Amino acid sequence: MLKKIIQVSDIHFGEKTFSSDLKNNLLKQIGNENPDLIVISGDLTTQGYVNEYNDAAIFLDELKSITETHVIPGNHDARNVGLLHFEKQISKRKFLHMDKDGGFAIVGLDSSEPDINDGQIGVDQLEWLKDELNKIPSDMCKIITFHHHLLPIPQTGRERNILLDSGDLLRVLIDYGVDFVLNGHKHVPNVWMIEKMVTINSGTATTRKLRGDTYPSYNELLINDCEIFVNLINSETGYKKELANYSVAVDGNNYGICASNHNSL
Ligand SMILES: [Fe+2]
Ligand SMILES: [Fe+2]
Repeated sequence: MLKKIIQVSDIHFGEKTFSSDLKNNLLKQIGNENPDLIVISGDLTTQGYVNEYNDAAIFLDELKSITETHVIPGNHDARNVGLLHFEKQISKRKFLHMDKDGGFAIVGLDSSEPDINDGQIGVDQLEWLKDELNKIPSDMCKIITFHHHLLPIPQTGRERNILLDSGDLLRVLIDYGVDFVLNGHKHVPNVWMIEKMVTINSGTATTRKLRGDTYPSYNELLINDCEIFVNLINSETGYKKELANYSVAVDGNNYGICASNHNSL
C-alpha cells in the first residue's frame, strides 16, 4: 500500500524573512499532494513568544484539515519559556505514530533545551525511546524525527548543530534497527546513510533564511512494500526532485533497506 508522508520544518513564525506567500504556497501544494501524514521537525516559531504560537496554531489547524499532523519542538520554540505555549497550543513534545496498514511507525523526540541552541535527547528520553521502539513490530519501517542534526551536514557552517549526545542516540538507533531519521534545524536539505540507516534533513519551507544556493523546500517520502522514494519539493515553485530511493524488504522478520540510490542536490 502506497503511503505519502510530508516532512516540513523550520516554519519560523515571527522571523523577519518569514513569507506569507511561501506559507500559502505550501498549504496549497500539500493540499494538492493529499498526503497520509504530515510531520513538522521543529522551529514553528522564532522567539517562542505567544503571538508566534497563536499564528503557528492556526497554521497547524490548516494542516490538520488536510491530514493527520505531528509536531516536535525546535531550539527556537524553547526560547523564552516557549515550551509552555507549545504544550498548551500545539501538542505534546514527543509522540509515537503507528501505521500498521502502511507498514511504518514514527517516533517524535524533543531535542530542545530552554534558551540555548544546543540540543540533546537526554538519558530519560533515550530510555523512553527504547520503550517506544520495543512496541514497534520488527517487520515495520522505523522512522524517528527530532529537530537538531544527528550527523554533520554540508553548507551549515562551523559545526554546532549536532546533538550533544548524538553518539549515544546513534548507538540506540542502529541497535534497534531504525531505518530513517528526519531532522530540520539549519535549513539545508540533505540525505546521508550510515550503516543501514538514512538521515534526511529538511530545509525551511516558509522563510528566506537560506544558506548557500538552497531554496525554500520540504521533503516527501513515498513508502510502499518494496521501495521508498525521498523527494525534495521547492515550496515556491512546486518543482519536485528525487533526492534518493531505496529498495526495502523484510528478511526473516526484520525490515531493512537492501539497496540505495542517492542523487545530487
Ligand atoms: Fe530553524
Ligand atoms: Fe533550529
